[in-house]
Formats: sequence, C-alpha cells, structure tokens
Amino acid sequence: MGMCELTKKTILVTGASSGIGRHAALKISQQGGTLIITGRDEPRLSKTFKNLKEGNHKMFVANLNNEEEINTLVADLPSINGLVHCAGIVGPTPVKFIRKENIEKLMGINFEVPVLLTARILLLKKLMNNSSIVFMSTVATQMPYFGGALYNSAKSAIESYSKTLALELVKKGIRSNCISPGLVNTPLIKKPVSDGQMEIIDESLGRYLKKYPMGIGEPEEVANAIVFFLSDESKWISGTNLVMGGVLQ
Ligand SMILES: NC(=O)c1ccc[n+]([C@@H]2O[C@H](COP(=O)([O-])OP(=O)(O)OC[C@H]3O[C@@H](n4cnc5c(N)ncnc54)[C@H](OP(=O)(O)O)[C@@H]3O)[C@@H](O)[C@H]2O)c1
Repeated sequence: MGMCELTKKTILVTGASSGIGRHAALKISQQGGTLIITGRDEPRLSKTFKNLKEGNHKMFVANLNNEEEINTLVADLPSINGLVHCAGIVGPTPVKFIRKENIEKLMGINFEVPVLLTARILLLKKLMNNSSIVFMSTVATQMPYFGGALYNSAKSAIESYSKTLALELVKKGIRSNCISPGLVNTPLIKKPVSDGQMEIIDESLGRYLKKYPMGIGEPEEVANAIVFFLSDESKWISGTNLVMGGVLQ
C-alpha cells in the first residue's frame, strides 16, 4: 500500500454515486479506508458500493438538499476520520437570466449542503481529532467562463468557508482543504446524445477546453489528491486550495 495509507480511517464521501466521488471512494477503499458513501441515486450508489474493496463499508441514499436527510445521515454515522464533499451540480445561467430559484439551486448543493453537513457532524461530535475535510471547488473561481456566475460564486464561497473552518478546527488537529480541478471527465460536464454516447455540455465549456494544455482530467487523478489530503502524509497542510490541471490563466 505504501504512501497515503488509510487503514484505521473511516471516511464519509458525498456524491459517491458518480464521477469524482465514486473514484475517491474506490481509491480510499484500495488504500485500506472504511467508507460511508452517500448519493441520491440508489442504483448508481450501489454500483460504487459493490466495487469497493472488501471492508466494513456502509451506504446511505439521501437527497442532501433536505436538511432532515442530512440529520438522519449524521445521526447514523459512526465516528469518522475524514469527510469528502463531492456532491455538486453545474447550471450555466447568463447573469441577466438569474432568478431567485437559480441562486437557491446552485448555492444549495454546492455551498449550503457542505456547510450544514459539516456543522451537524461537528455538533454531534462525529469527527475525531486529527481528521481531514476535503471540499471540491473549481479552477473557474479564478478563471471564469460565460454562464458560470452562480456556480463560481458558490465555489468561491466554499473556498472561503474552508479557510475559516481550518482556523476554527486547528486546535483539534482537524484539517480542511479545497481541491480546484480544471475540467474532469465525469457526467457533470456531459449530456447524452442520440446514439447513447455522451458529449461535453456546452459550447462555452468547449472553448474553455482550449485553455487546458494538459487536456481534460480523469476522476482518478482528482481521487489521488483526495486520498493525499485524507492521509497523514498531508498532516501539515490545512487551509489550502490545490489547483489541478495545468490550466493557463
Ligand atoms: N467534473 C468537473 O469538470 C469538475 C471540475 C471542477 C470541480 N468539480 C466538482 O467536483 C464535484 C464532483 O463533480 P463530478 O464531476 O464528480 O460530478 P457528477 O459526476 O455529476 O457527480 C455529482 C454527484 O453529486 C451528487 N448530488 C448532486 N445533487 C445532490 C443532492 N441534492 N443530494 C445528494 N447528492 C447529490 C450526485 O448524486 P446522484 O448521481 O446520486 O444524483 C453525484 O453523486 C462537484 O462538486 C463539482 O462541482 C467538477
């Protein structure tokens, strides 16, 4: 197993039914970690669960936009050593078309949910001392794309929140860090097309791709960084934001 070993660590991963969260869960189990995985879609979450390396893992289907479902999830949680917030959505909206419902939708799962989930876990003392918390932001907070105002604002907010969280938890040895990838090859950036294939969602994202000298990332690459932040190899790192993807500003 070598570096970034996660044996004796129990980790909660949200958004584990797809993309980065799924690959993070798979990699955490390969590194010896015990998982509690959560997502909305039962069949997709089960697929992740079945592919975890053997262990005492648990899965919990929940729509985290519902605060009661957050509270039930946390009440059922054992003590954990790591928390990875991967649940998120995009929703391109040019600024003049922004309505209250767009703000609520984008800020909900991308900002409100990780903040409420973290608060509940801390209140119920489910996070052990010397734990690690990982948030997903995006390189787009530093390099905007057309229609990304709400998504980027939600992610900027979570970056700022993570830094304050790092400060408040430092005495318990609990660390908090963000990861900000460029485009990653997951269902988040794709839509189905007629022949059953998937293609990149929107032209502006397509144009954005030109700024990626290293190409689109794979979710495994982001999962590697998540595992690093969860492991003791990163125990002197907190309050940071790791930008991934070799993006040209
Ligand atoms: N892909 C990229 O290019 C990219 C780049 C930078 C940052 N990110 C960030 O990385 C994170 C993971 O993205 P991804 O690409 O892996 O996306 P993805 O494949 O679309 O997966 C998103 C996950 O979020 C879950 N989710 C969404 N709304 C939820 C809700 N209300 N309650 C519970 N779970 C919910 C989904 O659950 P169900 O499938 O069960 O509905 C799914 O597991 C996101 O925060 C995203 O903003 C992605």
